[in-house]
Amino acid sequence: MRTEQPVTIRRSDYTPPAFLVERIALVFELLPEAARVESTLALRRNPAAGPTAPLALDGEDLELEGLWLDGEPLPPARYTASEAGLAIDALPDACELRIVTRIAPAANTTLSGLYVSNGNFFTQCEAEGFRRITYFPDRPDVMARYTVTLRAPRERFPVLLSNGNLVAERDGPAPAWVDGPAASEAWHEAVWEDPFPKPSYLFALVAGRLVATEAQLTTMSGREVLLQVWVEPGNEDRTGHAMQSLIRAIRWDEARFGLELDLDRFMIVAVSDFNMGAMENKGLNVFNTKYVFAHPRIATDQDFAGVESVVGHEYFHNWTGNRVTCRDWFQLTLKEGLTVFRDQEFSADVMAEQAGNEAGAASARAVKRIEDVRVLRAAQFPEDAGPMAHPIRPDSYQEINNFYTVTVYEKGAEVIRMLQTLVGRDGFRKGMDLYFARHDGQAVTCDDFVAAIADANGADLSRFGRWYSQAGTPRVVVAGSHDAAGRRYRLELRQACPPSPGQPDKQPFHIPFAVGLVGPDGRDLPLRPSPACAAAVRRIETGGGRATAVLDLTDPAQVFEFEGIDTPPVPSLGRNFSAPVVVEHAYDDAQLAFLAAHDSDPFNRWEAAQRLATRCVLAVLDGAAPAERCAPLVAAIARVVDDPDLDAAFREQVVVLPSEGFIAEQLAVVDPVALRAARDAVRGELARALAGRWRAIVEGLSTGAPWTPDAKAAGERALKNAALAYWVDSGDSDAIAAAQVQFERADNMTDRAGALQALLRAGGEPRERALAAFEKTFADEPLVMDKWFSMQATMPRRPGDPPVLERVRALASHPAFSLRNPNRVRALVGSFCHGNLAEFHAGDGAGYAWWADRVLELDPLNPQVAARLARALDRWRKFTPERQAAMRAALERVAAAEHLSRDVREIVTKALAA
Ligand code: TRP
Ligand code: ZN
Repeated sequence: MRTEQPVTIRRSDYTPPAFLVERIALVFELLPEAARVESTLALRRNPAAGPTAPLALDGEDLELEGLWLDGEPLPPARYTASEAGLAIDALPDACELRIVTRIAPAANTTLSGLYVSNGNFFTQCEAEGFRRITYFPDRPDVMARYTVTLRAPRERFPVLLSNGNLVAERDGPAPAWVDGPAASEAWHEAVWEDPFPKPSYLFALVAGRLVATEAQLTTMSGREVLLQVWVEPGNEDRTGHAMQSLIRAIRWDEARFGLELDLDRFMIVAVSDFNMGAMENKGLNVFNTKYVFAHPRIATDQDFAGVESVVGHEYFHNWTGNRVTCRDWFQLTLKEGLTVFRDQEFSADVMAEQAGNEAGAASARAVKRIEDVRVLRAAQFPEDAGPMAHPIRPDSYQEINNFYTVTVYEKGAEVIRMLQTLVGRDGFRKGMDLYFARHDGQAVTCDDFVAAIADANGADLSRFGRWYSQAGTPRVVVAGSHDAAGRRYRLELRQACPPSPGQPDKQPFHIPFAVGLVGPDGRDLPLRPSPACAAAVRRIETGGGRATAVLDLTDPAQVFEFEGIDTPPVPSLGRNFSAPVVVEHAYDDAQLAFLAAHDSDPFNRWEAAQRLATRCVLAVLDGAAPAERCAPLVAAIARVVDDPDLDAAFREQVVVLPSEGFIAEQLAVVDPVALRAARDAVRGELARALAGRWRAIVEGLSTGAPWTPDAKAAGERALKNAALAYWVDSGDSDAIAAAQVQFERADNMTDRAGALQALLRAGGEPRERALAAFEKTFADEPLVMDKWFSMQATMPRRPGDPPVLERVRALASHPAFSLRNPNRVRALVGSFCHGNLAEFHAGDGAGYAWWADRVLELDPLNPQVAARLARALDRWRKFTPERQAAMRAALERVAAAEHLSRDVREIVTKALAA
């Protein structure tokens, strides 16, 4: 690999393609060492582009065998070839171009383009992998109809899949170019036709030895469709949950959005080497095995939930992404933010439906919301405050793969959620209907989406567009004052957004801000806005004892007054996390404890407890005595733990403290070792003060009843395992014994991993024995070995332990570890560098040197995965001076490497930039 010159691609430079591709016929002749690809393009000059513009074909790592224009060989003088592709001048307005290329799938370690995993062929084309297969205008606004012929040796590759419908299957001779033993194998071919025009990033093929689990389903309009989940033989018994999730997703999209499956066949294929979670290729979704395999022996409840949400996500892309796609990659959030929002709503609706009653449904939705907000705060808020901060619709990039970020995905989903909050659920559905009516079959922009929502509702969303153009997490500072004589409560809201790279000054955002006023008896007060502010109160939601006002915060400062308020209430702010902002208010501990006990908004009950916990950690970090400082937190958590009206899943959320990463963001200078000590001290207080309760929870929920997958049982397992970890932290030796019993007897991975996690906290012999037993039991289960790697990489260091880095170093030489497999890299290297702050940043900078070595080792193999790992040093400027110096040195060492991918180069240069 040569070091590539950094080239910045800008959103403002968009120009329409010179040619459109009406049809493409692809013929693949597949052998692992060498594949031949013949592509025949029906081209037509684009009326929206200039009359003489040359045809630009992208191509990367291709060997060009020949080019034919309308049947005649095209001599090299007729085109210009470069590292990035071909340019062909003076083409007629309509013509046929035939291109033959050679590629080497088995040598492709990038997992982008056509590659081999466990002897089978797979493709990954998003964002720009198709150009690694053949020369093509590899951009999402070129949508073509595909016919694909796959040829391969029949014994080795009995299954041949591509997008759309299977139209023919037959045996045939080995291709003439094939020599050696492959020439005497029996070959066969399959022909697939996709009736829907699609961009090249949605192309896929799969070939190999695979087996399918099948189901039949009748869609809302009465069409029969075939559903398949393809896996390597032996894994059939772990596909049931993925299939059930797919069926639920299809039903949900019909019911909630009126969107139907548009193909006769829908396939999911699992692959163990994959750069991301899954990919929504038209009719042929390709999945990381992690998001398909679900069996209680190997998968935790979280894994089950992950499968459901990713299966939903990829399926939902069929409309939001595939039928309506992106004009260019700057619009990525058009499909990703919207599709994450849809998968979040899907999971929430499924969980709510399972709850059975209304209170349970509300609690289940809150738990899902809390989980999503935790991810946003732990990962997106830091990104938005660091050197890679970008608007959900970026203005520029060097490597688009670096912009598949929590900002584009999760903050993008929050922006869509705000749109729904602004126009209401029915209004949002109307907007979606208009979006599809206008844009089905097109490649469009984020502005087109917002326009559809606005036009369907007659809403003014002009200022809302700033969520698409400005980076950074806005802060909303709220002051409240009660006027006893006037019987009013006044809320003063101020918003500001910190600067981000290239954006020193920010314009005010349109923030839907949901508030309630909790009276002294713990009930919501009725909300009567004063006439002066009524126009900025979008809506008041009541019912079930709740009163929530959705305020339109559009200016830097706004005042809202509520009338008929006799006694000072406690404001409940940003209910259900109505906007991706930081809310600041001068609550005292008593008010937070009060909200944690009473708020009618379950999200804000949790939020109040989290605020209380964060304040404790920060105070202890500042030298406060833990026992004394934590008393209000202990009392508030005890109250929630004891509340029989709350379900287990919600109680578990309340007892889990805010992450170190989240707390670090509230500090000017981070010393991760001190931060962990402070957080552990607060944990220790909760552990010891409530030891009896933790024990009672563990014993009460250790019923020995067989595993069931339902939400209630999963919530109880979650609470039990959180309690077990606290109980172990309390120092009670009975807890270790209980964890060992659970570890040995568990009939499911949630309990087994939960017990192991608790034993890792205990340290010493119990830890080592459990780790050894776990390894022995699951040596042949790569996804479970990932848990084994990751739990050790993120484990705490106990007195007498060497630094965790030493263990991680040793594990990198474990036979089950490989830098070539992204799941393994994420499990060990990623977990340590991103997920074990105190140990990664331990004193001497050894972690940073190790990080630099791994980035440089991985980059030539897989730049996408290397670049994600490279981001572990993004926030280097936030740390103590000695750490900053060591991190800068490590970043500079990577940046100075002679050979560096565009991917990693962009990350390290942005991190080092002033
Ligand atoms: N579009 C995929 C999703 O969100 C993301 C994805 C899968 C991807 N594989 C990738 C993006 C490889 C870039 C590179 O569902
Ligand atoms: Zn997606």
